[in-house]
Amino acid sequence: MTHAQAASRVEVLRRELNRHNYLYYVLDRPEISDAEYDRLMRELEGLEQQFPDLVTADSPTQRVGAAPLEAFGTVTHTIPMLSLKNAMNEEEARAFDQRSRKSLGIAEDIEYVAEPKLDGLAVELVYENGLFVKGSTRGDGYTGEDITQNLRTIRSIPLCLVQKDLLPLPDYLEVRGEVILPLDDFARLNGEREVSGEPLFANPRNAAAGSLRQLDPRITARRPLDIFCYGVGAVRGWDFRDQWDMLHTLPDWGLKVNPLIQRCRDIDEAIAYYREIGGKRDGLAYEIDGVVLKVNSFRLQAELGEISRSPQWAIACKFPPRQETTKLLDIIVQVGRTGALTPVAVLQPVRVSGVEVSRATLHNPGEVARKDVRIGDTVVVQRAGDVIPEVVMPVVAKRSGAERVFAMPGNCPACGAEVDGSEDIWRCTAGISCPAQRKEAIRHFAMRTAMDIDGLGEKIVEQLVEKGLVKDPADLYDLTVEDILTLERMAEKSATNLKNAIDKSRNSTLPRFLFALGIRQVGEHTAKLLAEHFGGIGKIEEATEEELMAVREVGPEVARSIHSFFRQEKNLHVVRRLEAAVRLEAIAPKGEGIFSGLTFVFTGTLPTLSRDEAKRLVETRGGRAASSVSKKTSYVVAGEEAGSKLDDAQRLGVMVIDEARFMEMVGEGAQ
Ligand code: IVH
Repeated sequence: MTHAQAASRVEVLRRELNRHNYLYYVLDRPEISDAEYDRLMRELEGLEQQFPDLVTADSPTQRVGAAPLEAFGTVTHTIPMLSLKNAMNEEEARAFDQRSRKSLGIAEDIEYVAEPKLDGLAVELVYENGLFVKGSTRGDGYTGEDITQNLRTIRSIPLCLVQKDLLPLPDYLEVRGEVILPLDDFARLNGEREVSGEPLFANPRNAAAGSLRQLDPRITARRPLDIFCYGVGAVRGWDFRDQWDMLHTLPDWGLKVNPLIQRCRDIDEAIAYYREIGGKRDGLAYEIDGVVLKVNSFRLQAELGEISRSPQWAIACKFPPRQETTKLLDIIVQVGRTGALTPVAVLQPVRVSGVEVSRATLHNPGEVARKDVRIGDTVVVQRAGDVIPEVVMPVVAKRSGAERVFAMPGNCPACGAEVDGSEDIWRCTAGISCPAQRKEAIRHFAMRTAMDIDGLGEKIVEQLVEKGLVKDPADLYDLTVEDILTLERMAEKSATNLKNAIDKSRNSTLPRFLFALGIRQVGEHTAKLLAEHFGGIGKIEEATEEELMAVREVGPEVARSIHSFFRQEKNLHVVRRLEAAVRLEAIAPKGEGIFSGLTFVFTGTLPTLSRDEAKRLVETRGGRAASSVSKKTSYVVAGEEAGSKLDDAQRLGVMVIDEARFMEMVGEGAQ
């Protein structure tokens, strides 16, 4: 291919990829499969590699191009990013309407635009001649942090604006919006952090903020952040008629606007909207904490102006928080798999938005001190979405004087070993010899997503450890049926079943095995990346920190943790014994297996394969096994009593096959 031919092909590919990106991430209406998208992307990557001078900053290949930063720069906002005054109920919203009319000196109704108040992080995006050139946080409203390279990783932020019907674009555009992390992604992220021993995010907003503050954009890229745009700053070369017109023009340029926005003729309609959205709140995929009412006309907005850093033409009507008060009966300390000591509040049971709460995390000792929560306090408890409940604060006015200040124990409550309190998270120093850590390590090893040992539940692990039958995961493979029979209420049949399940887990894969070892900071995802990169456990054991950091998404902290794990004699000893006990199937390097680019969903009972075996067959061949059907699913493999997933597949036009056809594909390669 000549340079000129490549240049025009690159142009076509970019336009196509940008269009499909927009269809998928902004409109949620994809037209092609993941595999087709990947093919276009690979072709573009290939051409850009061959002709490096054709690479441009707005190329879809360049979303995660930048190297980690030392620190963020600062950005001064051309027009300050103000904050909203709150109305706590309908009455206060009506008072806002009255105030506005009075100050405008008008008797007629004011038209409002009503929008959900998204609970995320406010950002500003700058487009020059249609190109995304800078993005920043709100900061103190006047100056924020330059987070351009992190914002570039968010798929719903276009790197270049779309020119609808070939109409000209504004020369200069500052767009404002809220970056959010959807609730299910938030739950998944916290789940991963829990298994890899990292501190949990308290709510999706903190998780979104934490993700945007990463100095390494590769980490941000892994967080499925999204954006909804709701306003503009400085604009040159374009005039919007009013707020409603602006919110309808931004999507024409490829920018995402929340679909729940509504134009309201007067305050009554706006209040009806507030009620309606309040009713929908629990069913939304992301957190909102109210609705925002904005005077639609820009002329009236300008007339109303602003007072003390808040616009007089807009108000946030907040929803009642999902909070309750209850008694804090005690604070106990739990020991996790990595030895982390977590203070947990034991509460008088209370219902918070429909769910009974009797325990709530206090995160870490610093948090207890900062909030000054004492045993015996009346406390405010909250749940944000589906999030683990947390103690917000004590109700100081309700103190009787009998409350007790909590102190962290100097010794591990499970084994009595010394505690290391030199960092935010306190840890038991005994390592695997601490029975609490031992139990957690064994439970982790047996987890469904790790070695998948069926029937090795909490109670059994507890007894195995307490009886001294199992000290580390490798001991599991030496257990005999007779050993198992010594456990309480254990019959011959269940003992044999457990023994069989343990033996079955001897056949596994490298990513599962790596994850099962419970190395701090190594979750399922990192384990997969490590396995794909190194291909064998021996190479990972020997790798230096630098070599580990060469793995995609592995930063210095993770590298240090892996390196130090394999430098500890007691860990190596366990790994050696495990290596002798298990047989690990080789996995196809990413993108090379016969199923690469394909996503499978399994539903119903398959005649011969278990879910995990099926999943393994897909993953070892470079494919992905997902739990729910979407337009991106390549095949649904249906067994007996397949339920709603089969309906979903039929509705979405996804190909449905049976186990026999699936096994043929496994044998022959996917067509
Ligand atoms: S308008 C001057 N619209 O609320 C107008 N803000 O206290 C200021 N927010 O910093 C922003 N959803 O983080 C606006 N639909 C929405 C919003 C929204 C959430 C946040 C935003 C802002 C804060 C204002």
